[in-house]
Formats: sequence, structure tokens, C-alpha cells
Amino acid sequence: MNRRQFITNSLSVTIAYGLGSRLGFANDTMADHMQHMGNMGAMNSGSKPTAAIATTEINPTQLVNSEPLKTFTPMVLDKGEGMIMAMPAEQQWLKKGAATALWSYMSEGGTLIDAFEKDRLSIQVMNHFNEDTTVHWHGIEVASDSDGHPHQPIKSGKTRTYTLDLPEDSAGTYWYHPHPYQRTSYQAAHGLAAPFIIRSHNDPLTALGIPELLLMFTAPQLNDQGQIMDISMIEQMNGRRGNVVMVNGQYQPVLSVAPNSTYRLRLLNASNARYLRLSFGVNTPLIQVGTEGGLLEKPLSAQNELLLAPAERAEVCVTFKEATTLQALPYDSGWMDGGMGWAKPVDSTLTLLTVELKGEPTKAINLPETLRPITPLGEAKVTRRFVLSENMQMGMKDGKHEMTMEFLINKKTFDMNRIDFESKVGEVELWEIVNNTDMDHPFHVHGGHFQVISIEENSKETPYPYLAWKDIINTKKQQTVRFKIKQNLTGLRMYHCHVLEHEDLGMMGQYNVL
Ligand code: C2O
Ligand code: CU
Ligand code: CU
Repeated sequence: MNRRQFITNSLSVTIAYGLGSRLGFANDTMADHMQHMGNMGAMNSGSKPTAAIATTEINPTQLVNSEPLKTFTPMVLDKGEGMIMAMPAEQQWLKKGAATALWSYMSEGGTLIDAFEKDRLSIQVMNHFNEDTTVHWHGIEVASDSDGHPHQPIKSGKTRTYTLDLPEDSAGTYWYHPHPYQRTSYQAAHGLAAPFIIRSHNDPLTALGIPELLLMFTAPQLNDQGQIMDISMIEQMNGRRGNVVMVNGQYQPVLSVAPNSTYRLRLLNASNARYLRLSFGVNTPLIQVGTEGGLLEKPLSAQNELLLAPAERAEVCVTFKEATTLQALPYDSGWMDGGMGWAKPVDSTLTLLTVELKGEPTKAINLPETLRPITPLGEAKVTRRFVLSENMQMGMKDGKHEMTMEFLINKKTFDMNRIDFESKVGEVELWEIVNNTDMDHPFHVHGGHFQVISIEENSKETPYPYLAWKDIINTKKQQTVRFKIKQNLTGLRMYHCHVLEHEDLGMMGQYNVL
């Protein structure tokens, strides 16, 4: 099936059988359907439901809330060997009504992989679904043949063993998620995502006894039966932003901490496409100490908020002097209206987590002045330019609506059979990511991490404020982002937009490291 047919089919399915019939609009005209889809779009970020829509989307008051925050328990690893079953599961999110059907990773102990630098892990994955899947170890520089990219499907009913040699100096917060050809967004939207921590034996924050906590954010789109909704056309264009935000799989849970305690929080945005502008409020500032590739050279100055793009991670230290809430503030990542004037969602502030104080006050901890050395990548031998663009056309054909929607890199859509270029192992390259669109795209590269050099906006280039190892960088509309990257292992590597819907619709490329 070529891309054009794929898109046309999915559009007609969505309109004619999916949305239309479920909403009871099956006999309406096409124009009406488009109108209703516009309303659906307006709902995505939790704006007030209109009467017609209220029957289909969840009202968050239906959800169980205020439960104690759950923490992840580590997977049992026996001499580095672990087993994951990718299989259907359920979660009771509704106060009243059926459990939510999810796609899930199941494992003995728990789904968090918690390991040390230089460990060798051997993880067996069994696929219990009726379609191909893969497991990609996001951000970890593992051998290309264990990277879980789309060329390595695990067929339904089959097993694959991944060998993960966790690199030296790679301590940080990672995650794993599916990456099959054109099904990544669907599978992730249904629940497939889990955290992965790599530790160092000499971590300056652990040495101080700072307690740590992992907060993984997901953003499911639920109907009023508590079930995951199909990904609509609007969501394919703008990404699934979800109508609720879960923290560690819970809706608005409660975290109890001792007064004055300082926590190291590992923040992981595991949503398909929801930008999270996180804040505990002005009295509870965040001190960022790490990015995707682990600790920074030194703590940054205190800030009141932090933007976490899809797939991005950050480590922050927070001292809880008073009870507070963690909120997601409005963020405008742009909007495609499908040429139909589909209404842009009203983005309101969401409460994600409540923090209450309990017990005896603890005494304040001073963060170390330095955390970890980061060597700047040297001079680049090669410069590469990646221009992100969109292409959307609508028309009528044989009385049917036809839509072409493509998300492109250098005017090309992803092709499994095309290798976009070749690189040399150990050679530093400068990549320029030019966002020629009207929305943000978080850009990710597999394999080695990169160091962001500068961000250019309105022809003004600003040096990136600090040195850090990253594997994803948000490119805002019309920005150019430059980073240096070096691959230390040979083999095939993907690069793509981490709005997973865009990735599935072609905003991805692949290159060979020789
Ligand atoms: Cu997390 Cu290729 O992606
Ligand atoms: Cu990745
Ligand atoms: Cu994108």
C-alpha cells in the first residue's frame, strides 16, 4: 500500500465509520462531519465540552483521583536477563464503569528497567498482539541490531531478544516504547511506554542521600466509557495531545513529602504529542540538574517552570517548603486547521499532581557546585541540513473526500528502502534542523547523543545556554536548531519528529553509520 492510499483510507474510515457513527452523525453531510471533527479538535486540551461532544469524551470528574502516587518497581533482572510480555491489560481509571483496555508491557517485578552503566542486559520480548511491534530503547546507544527500529519487527506471537550494552558515562533517564512501521503512534497511544534508568556508581546527588522520584507523564485521549479513542484526522495532523494527563498512570495523584525535603525528580514526557510546561508555582522553584543524557556540568539557576517536549526528559531538584500542586501551564505549539478552519483547542492549566507535607521537617540540602564533566564535541567535519515541512491537500475524487497529508524532511517522506545518507563512526557532524512549518516538532536521533550549539529565530542566532547531552530537541515553528552529534557505533540509525503521528506520517529518515 502506498502512502497516498494509506492516508485516503484512514481518512474515510475515520469519517465514515469511526467518528461519524459513534457520534451518531452517520447521516450527516460530509461538511457536517468536518464541522464535528473541528469540535473534536476543540476538545483536545480539556476545554469546555459542547453539548454534542459531551457524550463521547470523558469528563475528568469520572476518573479516580487523589490516590497516593505510585512509584515504579524495577523489573527482575537475573544476571542481566529480563523478560517483557507486550500484551493487553486493563486499568481501572473510572470511578464507576469498566476498566480501560490498554496495551501494556508486563514483567516480573515491574516495568522500570533500573541498571548501571556498563551492564550488559539481555531482554526478551514476547509479542502477544495481533500485529508487529518492536521495542526501541529511546536514547540509549545500543547496537543498531538491538535498536528496535522499524526494520526489526517482532511478529505476532513471536519473541525477540535484545542485547543492551549500557555505555560508559550514560547514566540518565531513558524509556522504551514501540517503533513498528506506521504503527508507533497507535501502539504508544494505547499505553506502550515504560521508563529505563541507567545509574552511575558515583553519582554526586545519590552520594548526598537526596531521595529521588520518577514522574512519567502520559496523555491518553479517553471517551466517556473510559476507553482510548481512535486517533482522529485532527490528531494525526497535530499529534495526540490527549484529554487527560496521567502521572505514573494515575489521574491527579497525591505525593506526600516531609516539609523542607529536597527531591531529585526524573521527569519523563512519554506522551505522543503533549507539550508539558511544568510548574510547582513560584514558591517551589525547580533547579535543573540533568537532561536526557544525564547530569549537567553544574546545576542551573532556579526557574519557575520547565518545558518538556514529547519524549524529552529532565532531572530537577525541588525543595518542598509548602504544600503545592504540579501544573501544566498553557503552551502554544502551533496548530494545523486542516484547511477547514478546525478550531484550535483552548489550552487551559491542568493540575497533574498534588504535593502535601507530612511528618517532621528535614534539614535543607545544598546541591554540589559541580555534577559531572561534559567534554564538548570538537570541530565538525560534516554539516548536514534537515528541512522540516508539511504538505496537505484536500480534494474530491469520485464523490469521495481525498486528503493527502505528509510530514517531510528535505521534501521526502520516510521510505523503508531509502538510506538518506552515510556517516562515519567517531566523526563529529553539525546538524541544522530547519523548521519550515507553523508548529513545533521535537527532533530526535537514535544512537549517540548530541550537544545543542545554537537556536536561530528571526535570523538571530543565540548560543544554547549550557552544555548538555540530549537526544531530543524541540524545534519551534520557523526556528533553526544546530547541534553537534557523533555516533560511536556502526549501523542503521533513525532520526525523526517525536510527535509520533508525524513520525508515522513520514517525518523520519534513516542513515547508515560506517
Ligand atoms: Cu523514541 Cu525513534 O524514538
Ligand atoms: Cu529513539
Ligand atoms: Cu512533528
